[in-house]
Formats: sequence, structure tokens, C-alpha cells
Amino acid sequence: MSISKIRNSKVADGSKPLVCLTAYTAPMAKVVSKHADLALVGDSLGMVLYGFNSTVEVTLDIMIAHGKAVANHASKVCVVVDMPFGSYQASPEQAFINASRIMKETGCDAVKLEGGSEMAETIAFLVSRGIPVMGHIGLQPQSVHADGGYKVKGRDTDTFNKVMDDAIALDKAGVFAMVLECTVDELSKDITGTVSVPTIGIGASVHCDGQILVTEDMLGLTDGRKPSFVKSYKDLYADIEDGISEYANDVRDGAFPDEKYSFSTPERSKPKLVG
Ligand code: KIV
Repeated sequence: MSISKIRNSKVADGSKPLVCLTAYTAPMAKVVSKHADLALVGDSLGMVLYGFNSTVEVTLDIMIAHGKAVANHASKVCVVVDMPFGSYQASPEQAFINASRIMKETGCDAVKLEGGSEMAETIAFLVSRGIPVMGHIGLQPQSVHADGGYKVKGRDTDTFNKVMDDAIALDKAGVFAMVLECTVDELSKDITGTVSVPTIGIGASVHCDGQILVTEDMLGLTDGRKPSFVKSYKDLYADIEDGISEYANDVRDGAFPDEKYSFSTPERSKPKLVG
């Protein structure tokens, strides 16, 4: 789906909610792009694939490598690559240099960055120079240390008003869509009804113009605790564990590989017995 089509996908105007999922690898990009409107190469890959403690450790080179794999194998979906922590906060110029590297080296359609009104100037700078930007407000995982943990936003007046102001600032700055992460339903509803671009929710209720989940979370491919807002559509981790334990037993019992999985020696090349 093109950026302009996404920009115009407001449920209030009759659009169907946007289907968005993360994809970090070529195989996942192929499946996701068959069903979704937008594939996000999220910096959540740091925790999901690399086992980092937070997304703060993710580097620009890591995002570019995965962005390239996804953009090369996703067809028809809009591919968005996350700008990692430290690659855009210093100045609009720093953000432009790194965003243009991501766009050029991966072939993606747009970048996403976290932050509210404090990032508005940077977003406007990128957008006016030809870089489509998706915003990300509410819970911002890259600020987990500053914020003292992963917290739902909008339960108190201060965070409710702050996130609402952030949404308006991002809309004015020119984002083509914005992620709302872990915002209470009333806040999501108010933002969706106020801003001109689609809101994409993750733990942000049905009152959004689209939904996104980390694909590995909804498929049960992540080991450990998953966020309470994630619905489990599959339990693939258990399937993987079953497959691996069956293989281990087969090898130890001499049951694998049997004839079916071996190459037989042709008659003519069998060594001749002497004597
Ligand atoms: O990094 C990520 O995966 C995200 C979410 C919106 C899913 O930013």
C-alpha cells in the first residue's frame, strides 16, 4: 500500500482498519506482505531476535541489515523501518543523514521515530526534505530508562494531556500516520477523532485507524512473558520445541537419517574387493 493511501485511511471516512505487523527477516516479510497493509521493521527486533534487554542497544547497522532483507522480499505492503535510539535525537540534521541512509540502503518506503512535541521540528525537517515519517507516541520503548519502565499512558490527567498534545504536534509536523502505544481507550478515541492521519494502535484499544502487533508475539514465537494486550493466534514456540526434541531423540536413537534421507552408493562405484 502506498504512503498516500495509508495517509488517507481514516476509519471515520469509511476505510477499513489498517493491518500492520512487524517483519524482521525475508521469510517473515513474504508472509506478512500477503496479508498486511504495512510491514514495520521495528527496533523490537533487538529484544525478539538478539535478546537485548531493551531497544536502546539496537544500532543503525542492525536496522539497515534487517530493513534491506524485508524491503527486498515484501511486495505491495508499505515497508517502514524504525530509526534506532541515538540516530535522530541530536538534531534535525543528524536525523536527516541517518534517515536518508536507511531509505537509500534498504529501499524502504518510510521511517518511524519515537517522540512527541519535542521531535516535531525534526519530523517537519525530514518531511520537507522528502522523507515520509511515521510517528510513535504514548509508551516509547526507547525512553524506558528515562520513563522508569513500560507504563500505560492516559490514566492520569498529565499523561493524557501530554500524549494528546504530542499527537496534535506530530500531525502538524507532517507524519503520514502515528503509532499509539499503550494509551487508554478514551485517549486513543480522542486522538483518532482529532488528528488528520491514521492512528495505528498497539495496546491502544479498538479506537484506532489500524492495529499493529509484534508478529513473533502473536504467533507465540517469543520465549517468556508477552504483553497483556497481545492476543495469541498460534503457539509456535511449543511447536518448535516439539520438533527439536523429536529430532534430538531420532539422532540419539539412530532413527535419523534412515535410507530415505541418505544417498545410496551406485553399483558401478562400489569399491571392488581384492583377493
Ligand atoms: O519496534 C516495534 O516493533 C514497534 C511497535 C510499534 C510494534 O515500534
